[in-house]
Amino acid sequence: MTLRAVVKGCGHYLPDRVVENAEFEASLDTSDEWIRSRSGIERRHFSAEGQGTSVLATRAAQAALADAGMEASEIDVIILATSTPDMTFPSAATMVQGNLGMTNGFAYDVQAVCAGFVFALANANALIQSGQAKTALVIGAETFSRIMDWTDRSTCVLFGDGAGALVLKAEDGEGTSADRGILSTDLNSDGRYRDLLYVDGGVATQNTGKLRMEGREIFRHAVEKLAQTAEAALQKASLSPQDVDWVVPHQANIRIIQSTARKLGLDMEHVVVTVQDHGNTSAASIPLALSVGHARGQIKPGDLVVTEAIGGGLAWGSVVLRW
Ligand code: ACO
Repeated sequence: MTLRAVVKGCGHYLPDRVVENAEFEASLDTSDEWIRSRSGIERRHFSAEGQGTSVLATRAAQAALADAGMEASEIDVIILATSTPDMTFPSAATMVQGNLGMTNGFAYDVQAVCAGFVFALANANALIQSGQAKTALVIGAETFSRIMDWTDRSTCVLFGDGAGALVLKAEDGEGTSADRGILSTDLNSDGRYRDLLYVDGGVATQNTGKLRMEGREIFRHAVEKLAQTAEAALQKASLSPQDVDWVVPHQANIRIIQSTARKLGLDMEHVVVTVQDHGNTSAASIPLALSVGHARGQIKPGDLVVTEAIGGGLAWGSVVLRW
């Protein structure tokens, strides 16, 4: 017998305000056509004044708990992946814990930028497999609109706000790749590349700062590393790309998503794509895509799902799970 972290529920929340590409044409030398053709993005959501990451995260968490038919008091740990917490501290996760009225268990943030949700899932899996938690609420939530330089057309058109969440529960499995739940994880980072994607502020500068990105370089690393990490995770579970029902990639750029699918030998019918409607929501993009993919009827119980992501650090990784 092997303890498995099995998905019991999922949910997401997107702020009301939808911003179409065309809105940027008024203030920037850009066009809907450029943004669509270079990134696949058509629109994104921006959160309202006062609607911080913890607010979006709480809404997604409530939706996931409702989907699981569980109460917050049944959760042992909340892990929240974010690079845009409301404040330097306390963690956004403890704010969510408070909002949910949960006085038991423990909560903390994980920061691995766009790869954050994959790292958080791997963390939750480790806590469940080691017996430290029986249930976990794993959330990805971001308000990247708060760290945009609105004069930089090469970044500000790409990102959006949102949140997604999964409820995981420990269940006994046979220890084979036919088990439901998380089957394998593969995590990587390489700090030599920290200058390719960063926010130029923080505690050291005493201001929040703005996102800076060498887009072309990140693109090159993404195309190389995402298929590699997905294949490594599959191999650890004694599976191959041919076994995959759904790739749920980090939603940064449709060209990266297509090229990774091609490298894995999978056609786009096996890929959940939401980038056109959400833009790049960093750590929120995978749980958002999982929840939307489930709601669309794409991801069904028993399906083999591979998530993969890369972001600032660089940090990248993949989680293989059976839904
Ligand atoms: N509108 C019009 N023109 C633009 C815009 C814009 N919004 N932005 C850039 N351009 C121009 C550039 O200035 C450049 O002009 P030049 O040739 O005169 O210098 C030209 O378009 C081409 O620029 P490139 O950067 O080469 O464009 P590219 O095809 O690489 O697309 C993009 C840019 C979309 C940023 C792409 O490189 C990309 O998606 N990179 C990866 C981003 C990513 O995956 N991030 C994931 C991690 S995010 C995280 O961790 C938070």
